[in-house]
Formats: sequence, structure tokens, C-alpha cells
Amino acid sequence: MMQTIFSGIQPSGTITLGNYIGAMKQFVELQHNYQCYFCIVDQHAITTPQDKTVLRKNIKSLAALYLAVGIDPNKATLFIQSEVPAHAQAGWMMQCVAYIGELERMTQFKDKSAGKEAVTAGLLTYPPLMAADILLYNTDLVPVGDDQKQHLELTRDLAERFNKKYNDIFTIPEVSISEVGARIMSLQEPTKKMSKSDPNQKAMITMLDDPKLIEKKIKSAVTDSEGMVKFDKENKPGVSNLLSIYSILTGRTVDDLEAQYAGKGYGEFKSDLAEVVVNTIEPIQAKYYDLIDSSELDRILDEGAEKANKVAFKMLKKMENAMGLGRKRK
Ligand code: AQP
Repeated sequence: MMQTIFSGIQPSGTITLGNYIGAMKQFVELQHNYQCYFCIVDQHAITTPQDKTVLRKNIKSLAALYLAVGIDPNKATLFIQSEVPAHAQAGWMMQCVAYIGELERMTQFKDKSAGKEAVTAGLLTYPPLMAADILLYNTDLVPVGDDQKQHLELTRDLAERFNKKYNDIFTIPEVSISEVGARIMSLQEPTKKMSKSDPNQKAMITMLDDPKLIEKKIKSAVTDSEGMVKFDKENKPGVSNLLSIYSILTGRTVDDLEAQYAGKGYGEFKSDLAEVVVNTIEPIQAKYYDLIDSSELDRILDEGAEKANKVAFKMLKKMENAMGLGRKRK
């Protein structure tokens, strides 16, 4: 039997090149060999403040981008989390399995709450909802970027705890982190990851940036004063990040690229990289603009929600039975 994959992306901004390289690019390959569920996790997005008009726009935009990068709705199930109520219901149950202490230890919670006065309870309880997302589909494998590894480990702990305490109903999912491109860094602070919610737009390349803007952002990416195109994460994080992006998008090795740019400054390197990025993104944008206002997109999302609802509802009932919720029915 085919193994199952689940992965989600938050519509908390426009998808970045980091999200594409660390997550979406893998999804396109995986859909051929796995039963895949790809989710637009809008309920996760509201753990931080969102403007409702922008959120609605980002949800549709993310759905169109999933399809534009090559997700085939005949192979994979694409759906919006809030259109499958079992996620929130199972999320509540998983909150009652998780301990506050372990949630407070999550680095994403610490990073996102640092220095803020008004931190929502949802930001703390995000990982049990993520666990529910994954466990509802009997997921075998979760492909994510390196930043989500800790949440995945917690998902496994919560599933094991539930299985032991109540009933052995959950498959314990494995995490799959691609070796290359697991963490694309900010163009402005290359020791920090590239994030779609970064308030500094110059720090990220989004999948919908205009080619001219992409060129401008790459040209103003922070490097160093050495002037040597060399991979050295510790001492040259900016150049190393640009080299990683170049290498992943062209399939060429870093050694090969270093040799090509030996003795040349950053100008030529950056302008070639801009061309590589634009060549990757332009065909995706063309498909995106065909889809974004189409009724086809709504039809795919309706079908996805219907399929996901059926699978998720079954597991939800198993969870309720295991915990003794509601009434026993024949
Ligand atoms: N910089 C990155 N490099 C590689 N992979 C990345 N991912 C995120 N940033 C990078 C991967 O993209 C997927 C979707 O992530 P998410 O939307 O669920 O949340 P996130 O990890 O918090 O991504 P962002 O872009 O940083 O969003 P915000 O700014 O809203 O928090 C995941 O597989 C993630 O690993």
C-alpha cells in the first residue's frame, strides 16, 4: 500500500523562495510515489495577527501557487484547514494531551513571542493543532524544512503518549528534511531564516515578486567585504546562502560555481543568480495568473475539502472513542 504524506503551509504572507525550496519543490516530486495531503493551514496563520482581507487573499494565492508549482489535484489532495472542522476538534484533544511546559520550550514559540506584550494562547498551542493535522490522516511521512523539526518531534511524542494512555490508534509519523535547501536564509540578515512574515520585504524573495524586484533584492543582498565567491557558512553566511540557492535551482555543485566565479566580484555572481531565480519563478507566475481567478481553483479546493473531510472524520471518531467523549453508538 502507498504510504501517506501530510504537509501544511501557513497563508501568513506570500510564499517565499525559502518555502518553495524547503517544502513545495519536494512536494511536487513526492506526489508521484505517495498518497499526499497538502493543506493550507489558515488556522495556524491566525495565531499571529492577520488582516482578514489579506488573509483571504493569501489563502487563495497559496492554493494557486501549490498548483502552479506542479501539484496535480488528481494525484494529491489540496485543501484548506478551516474547511475540515475535524482539525480544530482533534487539535483540542491533542491540547489536552500536551503539557504547557513542553509547549513553552518550543523555539518557534520563544522566537515569535519574544518582546511581545500580547501573545495569543494559540501561538502556544500551535504544535498540538499541527499534531492533529498530521495524525488525522494516518501520516507516515512529513516533509518539512529544518525549522519545523522540533514541532515534528513533539508530534511524535504526543502520538505515542495518546497511543499509550488511550488506545493505539495513531501511526507515528517520520520526519523528512531534504538535505539541501532545508534552510534558506534572509537576504538582509543571513544568520536568520527567510520568512514570509518578515516585515522587511527586502529580506525575502516571494514567488510573486516581479523580475525587476527580484534582481534588485538579490543585488542588495547582504554579503561581506572580501569579494570572494566562496562557501563558508560561518564567516560568509550571505554569500553561502546565495551559493546554496544558485546550486539548488540549477543542480550545479557549489564547487563548480566557486570555480566559475573565482577571481570575479559579487556583481556578476549576483546578476547571474538573479537570472536563475527569475527563470525558475517566471513560468510558475504565468500558471499562477491563469489560475488565481478561475472557477477551476474553487472546484479543486471543494473536492479537496470533501476528500479530506471523509478521512479526517473517521479518525476523529476513533479519537473520541479512545478518549470516551460523547455517547457510545452502535
Ligand atoms: N527559510 C526557509 N528555508 C527552507 N524551508 C523553509 N520553510 C519555511 N521557511 C523556510 C518551510 O516551508 C514550509 C511552510 O512553513 P509554514 O508556512 O508552515 O511556516 P514557517 O516554517 O514558519 O514558514 P515561514 O515562511 O517562516 O512563515 P512565517 O513567517 O509565517 O512563520 C515548512 O515546511 C517550513 O519548514
